[in-house]
Amino acid sequence: MKIVIAKNYRNMSRLAADQVIEQIRNKPSSVLGLPTGHTPVELYHDLVLAYQQEIIRFKKIVTFNLDEYAGLESGDKRSYHTYMKTNLFNKIDIQSKNIHILDGATKNVKRECVRFESEISRAGGIDLLILGIGMDDHIGFNEPGSDFKSRTRLVKLAETTREANSKYFGSLKRTPTAALTVGIGTIMEAKKIILLADGKKKAEAIARAVNGKIDPQVPASILQKHPDCTFILDKGAAAKLKS
Ligand code: GLP
Repeated sequence: MKIVIAKNYRNMSRLAADQVIEQIRNKPSSVLGLPTGHTPVELYHDLVLAYQQEIIRFKKIVTFNLDEYAGLESGDKRSYHTYMKTNLFNKIDIQSKNIHILDGATKNVKRECVRFESEISRAGGIDLLILGIGMDDHIGFNEPGSDFKSRTRLVKLAETTREANSKYFGSLKRTPTAALTVGIGTIMEAKKIILLADGKKKAEAIARAVNGKIDPQVPASILQKHPDCTFILDKGAAAKLKS
């Protein structure tokens, strides 16, 4: 994997935006895999600016989000559907038929997960997948112990993940206990991957993923095997890497 160290969060976001812009300019019908959380907020901001400045268009772009909380309606203000609309989709010219986000409120989880996987295949696979990372090294919502061959499915959230996300739900008790996520097998099939991480609190997770052994207890460590994966980090997140 390739490691790029940016001087701060702002620069990390800019470097990531440049890569996404290049991807879209090279292939205006690109299929993108997109994350949520705090990390990609500025990246989305930069993509909106590039759209407003007519540097890129999203008319032919197809997107697949990585995950969604189980039990949340898409209209819920804490859902990843709402997050994506607020941070990106409502501000660009993407066509709603080209947006794919798992339905966390589905009554038929199995069918929803199969549908998602088949839509990724039908789109020709993911050209560029952007990832964040959890403090426990989760990617998407694939928690430690996830099978490296796993596909889109319902997963139980680790307590550390629930604690980290409880700020969005008011309390740990109200934080969902499960989520729908693409699998690690699904992630690894993306043609190109960029993982973003900022801040000292991610430094241990990044060091385990980059310098540690490839181990299902460290989901992000499998990215060492991906043929085209770049980690774009700020100095804080890179602080514990072996040089
Ligand atoms: C969340 C999301 C992940 C995200 C990660 C990091 O729980 N499901 O897709 O990459 O955890 O989140 P943050 O960027 O807020 O640190």
